Amino acid sequence: MQKRYDDLIKIIKEADYHYHTLDNPIITDQEYDKYLKELYKIEEEHPELIRETSPTQRVGSTVLTGFNKVHHQKPMLSLSNVFNEKEILLFDQKIKKEKINPTYVCELKIDGIAVSLIYQKGLLIQAATRGDGIVGEDITNNVKTIKSVPLRLTKNIDITVRGEIYMSKKVFEDLNKTNLSKGINLFQNPRNAAAGSIRQLDAKITNERKLNNFIYHLPNPLDYGLKTHFEALKFMKELGFKINDESQLVGSIEEVLEFIKKQSKLRDKLSYEIDGIVIKINDIQDQINLGYTAKSPKWATAYKFPAIEVLTKLNDIVFTVGRTGKITPNAVLDPVLVAGSTIRRATLHNEDFINDKKLKIGDIVSIRKAGDVIPEVVEVKTNRRTGFEKPFKMIKQCPICHTKLVKYENQVDFYCPNSDCDARKINNLIHFTSRKAMNIEGLGENIIEIFYNLGLITNISDIYILKDQKETLIELEGFGYKSIDNLLSAIENSKSRSLEKLLFALGIPHVGEKTALIIAKKYLHLDEIINISTEELLQIPDIGNIIAESLTTYFKNKDNLIQINKLRENGLNFNYLGSTSLNKSLVNKTFVITGTLSSMNRDEITAKIISAGGSVTDNVSKRTSYLIVGDNFGSKYQKAKELDIPIINEDDFFQLLT
Ligand code: IVH
Repeated sequence: MQKRYDDLIKIIKEADYHYHTLDNPIITDQEYDKYLKELYKIEEEHPELIRETSPTQRVGSTVLTGFNKVHHQKPMLSLSNVFNEKEILLFDQKIKKEKINPTYVCELKIDGIAVSLIYQKGLLIQAATRGDGIVGEDITNNVKTIKSVPLRLTKNIDITVRGEIYMSKKVFEDLNKTNLSKGINLFQNPRNAAAGSIRQLDAKITNERKLNNFIYHLPNPLDYGLKTHFEALKFMKELGFKINDESQLVGSIEEVLEFIKKQSKLRDKLSYEIDGIVIKINDIQDQINLGYTAKSPKWATAYKFPAIEVLTKLNDIVFTVGRTGKITPNAVLDPVLVAGSTIRRATLHNEDFINDKKLKIGDIVSIRKAGDVIPEVVEVKTNRRTGFEKPFKMIKQCPICHTKLVKYENQVDFYCPNSDCDARKINNLIHFTSRKAMNIEGLGENIIEIFYNLGLITNISDIYILKDQKETLIELEGFGYKSIDNLLSAIENSKSRSLEKLLFALGIPHVGEKTALIIAKKYLHLDEIINISTEELLQIPDIGNIIAESLTTYFKNKDNLIQINKLRENGLNFNYLGSTSLNKSLVNKTFVITGTLSSMNRDEITAKIISAGGSVTDNVSKRTSYLIVGDNFGSKYQKAKELDIPIINEDDFFQLLT
């Protein structure tokens, strides 16, 4: 029985690999179903035989209540963009200036969701989203449902790889057809559908979405004796990963241009969406020599396909109020499909933009959309005018609080000067909790609006006393104990964010993420920043007059200082935690786990240990740092006692993590 079981696993895995990874089936669907049925039957009758890597184990049965956070061992970076031949040649010149004569690898830029996969001894133990590049979300259960992601590699090695999860055009169309017939909202494009599908708490739903993946990046090729990216691709292919076969090694930038030309023509024929071509330097030592900017490698760039333009009607112009009070006019358009997305709105930036383009309400306009860039109104088609178009008139009062708008010297934008304007306050709160700021999951736009309108939160510090209103929150429609508990613990967790996140979250005009980081790194504590003068700030490279003025004005304002003090009273961290903000508390610690844990499974706790720098082994030895004990523990407990190894439970483990 054991032998037949193992043989069946082998046959099905082989069939899966050929079908999903190589796109080249070796058995018929009927044969496949027959083997799978037999496998299920054996597992039902002999559950003791079930292997974690059995194809039946791809879809777990536990429904999660949320996604755990994962600290990436190495940041997951993005790519710089180039949009035309000139910029591509410039990229090449910059590299040559560094005395590098590059060979490039050209790859398709898959339009999906980045994923990082960690394997230990050849077994998939963790899959995570990119998140903000430093901290992502644990989506292991869902990624396991993707048949082209190997659960076990061909070698028992430790490795981290990165790639893209995507939904094929066909699966996307079928999904939308089904959603249409069920009256459910349609997905705008395959990327959104993939993103929505991978963030399902129930892996069964993800499984139904038939996602796919390509792996394209090995962060540490030298550790495997690989000297070039192309070799790394081959190596990863041999391990069982799905690698895109269109990738090509080329000797010059001219050949890169040829590759782009060829692929632009073939784009529509592909079964999946691509939004450009990625150009990477092949030699790993050259990559290391070139290094990285804060956001992206200098040894690679993405050529983005040109934007697509379509015509539609400008039905109206409406105004939104930002957190700084800035008024933005927005085009309300006849919904139109551009590059896979339905566009209903487009920003019109400001009054001057509208007047320069001579836009009238009712005009036919052309809309441009490039990749993930916000759609733009390009021009008005004056020859399509009927004479019924209405001229545009800028508003004079805030559309929300009706305060008279103001325009500052030398600026094109109008502002609502009322700092108590509801729209400004709500947007401030939305900014504060957003992912790049305090990253409070569960406190998104809609909930903030509800809480604000109910008077539960008016200012940022109110967020931290929501816990005193638990009973009121639970009474609200649509909230249960569990979701309120999750929300309150997300709020508690956010108290320990590093200073740069808090500084950015305050929403000080002109202080973006980068500026916040520069200042936090230099001054290390919020109290130091509150007291700096404009002159002092101007000494810092990258900080100009506008930012310096804005910062000092913000910290002179009494209301702002009151809020900051309330944040302090509520225990928010005001220190810059820098690289130490990454939880590396378990470095050099080795764990063994025995028994069943209540809050997570083995994979999840293993992932947590690894992401905090520790490791997990199977057997207790002198080198074990801790034995984690759950219910129904085994003989490892006795062994640990004999060797005097510290024995801890789940709660103790979480203490260690903090
Ligand atoms: S390489 C350190 N290669 O595009 C380099 N990225 O806009 C890591 N993407 O975040 C990225 N296809 O999610 C790379 N062949 C490819 C890609 C690719 C799609 C995505 C990836 C990245 C984004 C940048």
